[in-house]
Formats: sequence, C-alpha cells, structure tokens
Amino acid sequence: MFCIIAFIQSCLSSDLWFVFQCLLLSASVAADGGSTAFWAELALKSLGGEGLFLFSSLDTNNDLYLSPEEFKPIAEKLTGVTPVSDFEEDAPDPNGETLSIVAKFQPLVMETMTKSKDGFLGISHVALSGLRNWTAPVSPKSVLLARQFKAFLPPKNKLDLGDPWWIIPSELNIFTGYLSNNRFYPPPPKGKEIIIHRLLSMFHPRPFVKTRFAPQGSVACIQAISTYYYTIAFRIHAEFQLNEPPDFPFWFSPGQFTGYIVLSKDSSHVREFKLFVPNKRSLNVDMEWLYGASEGSNMEVDIGYLPQMELESTGPSVPSVIYDENGNVIDSRDPSGEPIQFVFEEITWQQEIPWEEAAQKLEVAMYPFKKVSYLPFTEAFERAKAEKKLVHSILLWGALDDQSCSGRTLRETVLESSPILTLLNESFISSWSLVKELEELQTNRENEFYSKLADLHLEKYNFPVEMIICLPNGTVIHHINANYFLDITSMKPEDVESSIFSFSANFDDPSTATYLQFLKEGLQRAKAYLQN
Ligand SMILES: *[C@@H]1O[C@H](CO)[C@@H](O)[C@H](O)[C@H]1NC(C)=O
Ligand SMILES: *[C@@H]1O[C@H](CO)[C@@H](O)[C@H](O)[C@H]1NC(C)=O
Ligand SMILES: *[C@@H]1O[C@H](CO)[C@@H](O)[C@H](O)[C@H]1NC(C)=O
Repeated sequence: MFCIIAFIQSCLSSDLWFVFQCLLLSASVAADGGSTAFWAELALKSLGGEGLFLFSSLDTNNDLYLSPEEFKPIAEKLTGVTPVSDFEEDAPDPNGETLSIVAKFQPLVMETMTKSKDGFLGISHVALSGLRNWTAPVSPKSVLLARQFKAFLPPKNKLDLGDPWWIIPSELNIFTGYLSNNRFYPPPPKGKEIIIHRLLSMFHPRPFVKTRFAPQGSVACIQAISTYYYTIAFRIHAEFQLNEPPDFPFWFSPGQFTGYIVLSKDSSHVREFKLFVPNKRSLNVDMEWLYGASEGSNMEVDIGYLPQMELESTGPSVPSVIYDENGNVIDSRDPSGEPIQFVFEEITWQQEIPWEEAAQKLEVAMYPFKKVSYLPFTEAFERAKAEKKLVHSILLWGALDDQSCSGRTLRETVLESSPILTLLNESFISSWSLVKELEELQTNRENEFYSKLADLHLEKYNFPVEMIICLPNGTVIHHINANYFLDITSMKPEDVESSIFSFSANFDDPSTATYLQFLKEGLQRAKAYLQN
C-alpha cells in the first residue's frame, strides 16, 4: 500500500492520521463497489495521469464534474479577466471609516532549507519556481473598510479576558482526516473567512484560510477592555499555494500568523492592526511539494526561515467622507493640500492581560497538549534539578507547536490525552527543541554544562523526532524514535480492515498506552540511578 511506504519515507507521511485516512479510503472504495472506480478509469483514459491530476485539483467536491465555479480559476488564468468580486463587504460605505494597511515581506532564505545543502540536487527547477519568484507582497498597500474587521469582535459569551473563541472554526476531525494536497486555488471565502483571506491576499494571491492539517482555523481572545474598545489577540493557521498548473502544487505553511487589533466595540473604528509570522525561532515555515501526478506518494518536505511577513495599519481608520458641523461634505485636504489631521482620544484600558498570557491562551486553544507547559531546553533542566523531577524532552527536526511539519502526529494523539497530561504534569518537566537549536548550543561553548546537555541529547537523536527522558544532569535514561513508536503502535493493514470500526472507536488507545509505558519505564529506570 503506497501510503505505508510513503509513511516511512517522509515526515508528512509519517503522520498516523494520514495512514489511518488511507486505510479508511481504501475500505470505502472497496465498499462503494465499482462505480467511482469505473468513472475514474474512464477519466484516466481520456485525460492521462497528469490531465486527470489537474482535473481533480479543480474538482473540489470530487464528483468528476467541473461546475462553472470550479472552472473559474482556469478561465481567469486563460482569459486574464477577473470578474468583479461580488462580496457584500466590498460595497462602498460613505458613512464608514477606512483603514490603510501596508505589507512587509522578506522572502524565504533559501539557504536555510535542508535541501539547499546539496544545491537542491535532484529537485526540478519548476518545483521551486513559485517559491523563488515570490520576492515581494502582491499588494504592498491596501485600503479596507473598518467594519470588515467586525469578524474580530468577540461573541457575547466570550467577554472575559483571555477566554478564546474561534473566528474560523476547524472543520477537521478524525473522520474528515486532512484536506487534499492536490489543489491550486483557494475555495471562495465565506463569512468571517473573507477578511482573513483578504488580508493574507496582500502577500500572495492564493492563501488558504483553512490548512490541510489540524489544528486548522483562527482563534482569538480579548487582551484588553476599555469603555469603548477591545484589544483582540489572534492566531491564524493558514497556508499558501505557490504554484499553478501545469506545475505541481507547492504548499508554503508559516508556523502561524499572530497579532492584535484595537477596535471599537461597534467595529466602526479600528485604532491599530498588526499581523505577523513570528521569526524568533531559527525555522518558521514548512514546505511540502508534489513532484508527480499522485497525491501523497510523490511528496517532498522541507523547512526554512522566513525573516519577515507582516501587515500593519499606517494609522487609525478615518472617515471616507468628512462632514462639517452643518452636515456638509468637506474636502479631506485642507486648502494647502495637506490631508486633514484627525485627533484621536487616548484609550484608557480598564482591564488587561499581558500579551504573553493572551498568546499562551491561544496556543492552548490550538494545542490542548500545551496544558502542560513546555519550557525552553536549558530552563527545563534547571527546573528539573530544583523540583527533583525528570526531563521529558522532544527533539525534532521541525517545530512542535506550530504548523511546521514533524510534530503533528505526537500532538494530535498522545500528548493531548489526559492520562499522559496528568503523568507529565506530576512527574516530569517537559521541553521540546529543534535539532538546529541544540547544535548551536553544542558548538557555542559559553556554558559547558549546557553544551554537555545538548551533546547528550544529540547523541540519541534520529530523524525525524526523538522522545527523550533524562535525569536533571542530562544523562539520558530512556528514549524512543517517533517512527519506531508509530510502527509499534499502528496495526497491520489486514487487522485494521477487518476491525475498522473498533479501531476508530479506540483510536488513540494503542499510542497512548505505549507512550504511558515509555514514561513509566523512564521513572522506573530513574529510581535505579538515583539509588546508586
Ligand atoms: C513570477 O512572478 C510574476 C510577477 O510577480 C508573474 O507574472 C509570473 O507569472 C511568475 N512566474 C511564475 C513561474 O510563477
Ligand atoms: C498540574 O498540577 C497542578 C498542581 O498539582 C494543578 O494545579 C494543575 O491543574 C495540573 N494541570 C494539569 C493539566 O493536569
Ligand atoms: C548524572 O547522575 C547519575 C546519578 O547520580 C550518574 O550516574 C551520571 O553519571 C550523571 N551523569 C553525568 C553526565 O554527570
């Protein structure tokens, strides 16, 4: 079965969920009888592999029929004509305010990609063309209506500081699995997706406000409240499709977009808006691209560093039309041609929480495993020493707590399950690190103890993810590789097909049980050490 092989080959495919989905899919095709298979075969005959691939990428509802809506992106590409957008939100509003937003963008640093090490050997030039070509935002400046930002306002039952709600709820679950890699054009955004799609379109024409993988969606919480204003903190998981037919899809997934908006409670006025991709970690973008006309099996994965991707308001929103005290429209420029200066009252916040706290709440909403705190590497060891606990450490090639690749499987299954959360909280200090960060700590010999810790960790590391249990002095007492972990916890396909329902009902049981056993074994071994 292709997915099992791909599963071992690449980080994306090592996703248990993905495997599970393949199994479900094969079961459902078998159950469905021959009819879909018959049409698919006919389509393959008339279009060929690559033609069918392109057709499927447009056929978003998989009914083997292209509706005018589905054909639209290709029509626009061939004719060069984009029909006037009919979003209600774009209607002019003479009584409303407008907000100017500027985009700042520095392209991905190609040398940070792992595959740059051999000069992108064996990677076809066209695969990376969309990436190399993306050197500037498509719209460096945009003017938006203030009331479009209404989407950021809290629902009535979420008026407490730091109580998160979903602007765009996730639609992924275990039964829907993940969304297809074989897509080029984002579906038309609806409702609250429209403003987020619009903002992200300033960077690139093809933003997908719903990521292919969980955690999907956009979440927000109130960071500060005044009589008339809110500061809303938000976190968005979205990605871009950089290629177009006839090239194969290339997905560009920043770790996250975060930021804040200061807006009036009736959303008529936006005081400040900022959105950005955090750039503090050494790697912050996951990239996945297909190199053949088959979903999943022909996929390359890499990660890299994006120095800057930001949107910022140039000032508060201002009325589109200005009236004098008699209600007459006046020019927005004074007689000397200078724009009229507006004076804005100062906002006095009555309640607020620090940015870090708001960001933490959003993070936990996206990743329930974060109910246990994950400390930075060296801090975890200091804390473990003070509290006489073990260190539970996850060492990965990509980041664990954003949309970059390798942590997905762990996050979505074991690390969120309640027996694991309880045991980690009681007996361990948790931490996760990027291999790259520990390599830096290892060579930077400023603190011998820290370098030694990094040494001991890296000694045990195998691609893509290693789970490690250590004594506070860094001695590794137990470790397990994620691929090995998945191998021993995933059932054989034969077993699964016969018991597919019971398997889905107890989905996270085998892995939770195995992880629990791993942690307990660590505690057991530690006893022996500490007695000597
Ligand atoms: C590269 O970008 C330019 C303008 O930004 C665009 O016209 C062109 O089609 C792009 N080429 C590719 C291969 O994406
Ligand atoms: C962790 O333990 C502390 C104190 O024992 C408790 O207050 C907290 O709720 C626990 N958190 C979780 C996620 O179990
Ligand atoms: C850490 O402590 C244990 C138990 O005291 C000891 O056996 C081990 O050698 C120590 N490791 C290092 C790296 O000092």
